[in-house]
Amino acid sequence: MKEKEDQPSLHRHQHQKRIVNVTKKLFANNAAYVILLLLSYALGYLSSPTSHTPPPPPTTPIVVSSKPSSSITLTRLTDNVPVPTNQLDNFRVTSRCGDSLPSQLVRQTIVDRLFNATSPYTNFPPPHVSQLLRTKRVKGWGSYGGVFKRLIDKVRPRVVIEVGTFLGASALHMANLTRQLGLDTQILCIDDFRGWPGFRDKFKDIQMINGDVLLYYQFMQNVIYFNATEAVLPVPYSSGSALMKLCEWGVVGDLIEIDAGHDFNSAWADINRAWQILRPGGVIFGHDYFTAADNRGVRRAVNLFAKINGLQLQTDGQHWVIDSAVN
Ligand SMILES: C[S@@+](CC[C@H](N)C(=O)[O-])C[C@H]1O[C@@H](n2cnc3c(N)ncnc32)[C@H](O)[C@@H]1O
Ligand SMILES: *[C@@H]1O[C@H](CO)[C@@H](O)[C@H](O)[C@H]1NC(C)=O
Ligand SMILES: *[C@@H]1O[C@H](CO)[C@@H](O)[C@H](O)[C@H]1NC(C)=O
Ligand SMILES: *[C@@H]1O[C@H](CO)[C@@H](O)[C@H](O)[C@H]1NC(C)=O
Repeated sequence: MKEKEDQPSLHRHQHQKRIVNVTKKLFANNAAYVILLLLSYALGYLSSPTSHTPPPPPTTPIVVSSKPSSSITLTRLTDNVPVPTNQLDNFRVTSRCGDSLPSQLVRQTIVDRLFNATSPYTNFPPPHVSQLLRTKRVKGWGSYGGVFKRLIDKVRPRVVIEVGTFLGASALHMANLTRQLGLDTQILCIDDFRGWPGFRDKFKDIQMINGDVLLYYQFMQNVIYFNATEAVLPVPYSSGSALMKLCEWGVVGDLIEIDAGHDFNSAWADINRAWQILRPGGVIFGHDYFTAADNRGVRRAVNLFAKINGLQLQTDGQHWVIDSAVN
């Protein structure tokens, strides 16, 4: 992602909640919509909520005609391999998530599966980075927006999944909010902790060792500084692979925040994957609906996702919000 820039003309929308009529406003031009739809399928993929029924099993083997007079059976598909009923089905996320884990098992599950049963905060910092970290170094974008408090008050989440954490500004803000409510909330922070290529041009104080930026360690240092190690746990992998594994392990979020890659394809993939692991009745939301970051790729992805799934989209400040309870 590139550095975010705000769009001043839209700031008056801050703290104003309004329903966006996606259908009428954005897709008045049918041809443009069809092209956008096809392009999105070609570039990304369409996920469906886990409750959706899978495509029907094949009734006939796939037959490809090489000549008008003869046909060759390339593959005889078994019953458990879904046959696309149309080209768009090729792009659906077909993975099925594991049975939902109770929220009190989430932390231990992550620590066991990712960190070999040892908290990543144990024996922190390692000697080779201890001299290179700042006592605290937090910087975020829109990380203290009122949307965080409004959604946490409303959802009272036991599990929050953040996709895109950087130095932990928004995650630590959420930890503060859940602590104030007396909730025993687990906040999982999915981030590869590499920022983006060249991000150190603006963050020269984040050190680098042999080309490895120390974002992960500085994030952990921040969590420790703010006494939030019980609430906040890193999931230090790319968003796609991490969300797929959480789905497989049955980890679900009551509240999911999307704030990683801001180009259309990244946002599209993250939203579709994250929607699969949203607990029914939970809320998914994300930053940069009303900023110009990456030419509003986030907004295009969110609008398309809401449109295809028939979901009501709300906005809150710079954020988009989809509340599965009203959908
Ligand atoms: C805008 S920052 C997150 C800011 C944070 N939510 C806050 O408000 O303080 C975006 C983060 O997403 C991460 N990111 C971008 N693409 C990613 C991907 N595909 N997988 C994992 N993390 C990614 C970057 O490393 C970066 O830390
Ligand atoms: C996991 O931790 C145990 C000790 O708790 C150790 O014996 C084992 O080698 C570790 N496994 C890996 C893959 O690091
Ligand atoms: C959390 O709240 C404390 C005060 O209760 C404040 O000092 C701290 O800056 C807050 N941290 C973040 C990251 O918002
Ligand atoms: C963290 O906890 C220690 C010990 O209780 C306390 O002295 C310190 O002020 C706390 N730090 C923050 C940022 O809340």
